[in-house]
Amino acid sequence: MSDPAYDLVVIGAGPGGYVAAIRAAQLGSKVACVDKRATLGGTCLNVGCIPSKALLHSSERYSEAKRGLAAHGIRFSNVELDLDAMMQRKQKIVADLAKGVDFLLEKNKVDRVVGTAQIRAPGEVSVSLSDGASTSLTARNILIATGSEPATLAGVEIDEKRIVSSTGALSLSNVPGRMIVIGAGVIGLELGSVWSRLGAEVTFVEYLDHILPGMDGEISRQAQRVFKRQGLGFRLSQKVTRANGTGQGIELSVEPVNGGKADELSADCVLLAIGRRPYTDGLGLDELGVTRDSRGFIEVDARFETRVPGIFAIGDCIPGPMLAHKAEEEGSICAEILAGQTGHIDYDRVPAVVYTWPEIASVGKTEEALQEQGVAYKVGRFPFSANSRGRAVGATDGFVKILADAATDRVLGVHILGPLAGDLISEAVIAMEFGAAAEDIARTCHAHPSMGEALREAALAVAGRAIHI
Ligand code: FAD
Ligand code: NAI
Repeated sequence: MSDPAYDLVVIGAGPGGYVAAIRAAQLGSKVACVDKRATLGGTCLNVGCIPSKALLHSSERYSEAKRGLAAHGIRFSNVELDLDAMMQRKQKIVADLAKGVDFLLEKNKVDRVVGTAQIRAPGEVSVSLSDGASTSLTARNILIATGSEPATLAGVEIDEKRIVSSTGALSLSNVPGRMIVIGAGVIGLELGSVWSRLGAEVTFVEYLDHILPGMDGEISRQAQRVFKRQGLGFRLSQKVTRANGTGQGIELSVEPVNGGKADELSADCVLLAIGRRPYTDGLGLDELGVTRDSRGFIEVDARFETRVPGIFAIGDCIPGPMLAHKAEEEGSICAEILAGQTGHIDYDRVPAVVYTWPEIASVGKTEEALQEQGVAYKVGRFPFSANSRGRAVGATDGFVKILADAATDRVLGVHILGPLAGDLISEAVIAMEFGAAAEDIARTCHAHPSMGEALREAALAVAGRAIHI
């Protein structure tokens, strides 16, 4: 057989795929990256991380202005919402960043192919192009980075207008009067916050008896209290069994999970946010012998190789947290392994952030996980109400919680509800990567006044010697 045209063909140009393509090119490989979307960046850039963060920021500014800045000595009389302008700003941010990814692929000489890929055989990818034609790409290795899609629910038909997934919720043309969010997870809380701040009455219907599954329980309970104060409503341990559009709006049937009387609710808009599932449709995996687990995630080994030699997979379509930075990490590592280097990702050091206000961020073990594993631990907590920067900017909700090994003092988990939690968590990730003890953080000089001092004080509190509380 003649030499393949490419060393690597990457299917999917999300944060996993495009990062893998760039890293492989940096390491000297000839690379093509195929995506069926006309714009690069995958879910994250087009309909995920970036547009949601743009709307979260804009809606926060609006709600701040609306609530009034009189306490700061700033008075104005008329605050108006221009939803079109807010949406245009979001779209421009997405378009500018997508151009940036284009530039990066070009700079690294990655060939870009727009079309839907199917793997015909190891080393051969056929691509259906948008004009109906098709092309074939040959490669030494193939990397699947096809991401994920919203999970669906029987009885709740998404039309992306009145019953929406996250994609529709990022582009509503009017602020709904009443919005029901099915699922009080990350997407629900972020996008529910956006529309609540813009004026919608938002109620969550959540299957579990708590919000944000997987997060440290104390953080999740405290966060729910803060969100309730912000006006968000919660119906926990309940499930939606049906949602029907009527002339007026949407009628929903809601039932207690543990049995009991069903209830009828009505809304102008329903956001279905009950999780995401791996997207691998049309790739031809079964014919190839690429195996998937019971939830549809592609099975890979520690080198990200599937059961079929030469076919690799990373990102949302393989097991693990469905996060952009996890996909990126795996993309880089996989490219390095293909170039003969070694690579490894410690999933216990992958941070998670919820960009509500206040933000919620965590890394490592939760208290519940440590209890379940029988690990003896110490806890240090410090509230932002006792942090001088928090006081100065009026952001006093929340706290930092550090879990450290009882015997060695090694940091096992850090959980933050509070201002800038998503940025503060990086310090905890680095500390944990270097195997830090709580005392290492406690003895590290932090700038004053800064939110980071709350992290240091929580580390001091692990040894019972916080200063400012
Ligand atoms: P994706 O980004 O999903 O990219 C996969 C790409 O593959 C897509 O562009 C798709 O078109 C393409 N593709 C699929 N099949 C084919 C085919 N056969 N041929 C050609 N192309 C194909 N994560 C965070 O870390 N932080 C956040 O703040 C955050 N916010 C989010 C907000 C929302 C509303 C949503 C929905 C998700 C959010 N996420 C966030 C999750 C994040 O978007 C994903 O974890 C991330 O995009 C996964 O990257 P990926 O490269 O694996 O896949
Ligand atoms: P999720 O898993 O975070 O939350 C889904 C929620 O829906 C859970 O609380 C679950 O108990 C509930 N649920 C499931 N079935 C239900 C039912 N029938 N009725 C009522 N509730 C039900 O999933 P979500 O919010 O859809 O997000 C998907 C993924 O996207 C997440 O795994 C996350 O990793 C990623 N994401 C990350 C963001 C970030 O990093 N800031 C932002 C948005 C999404």
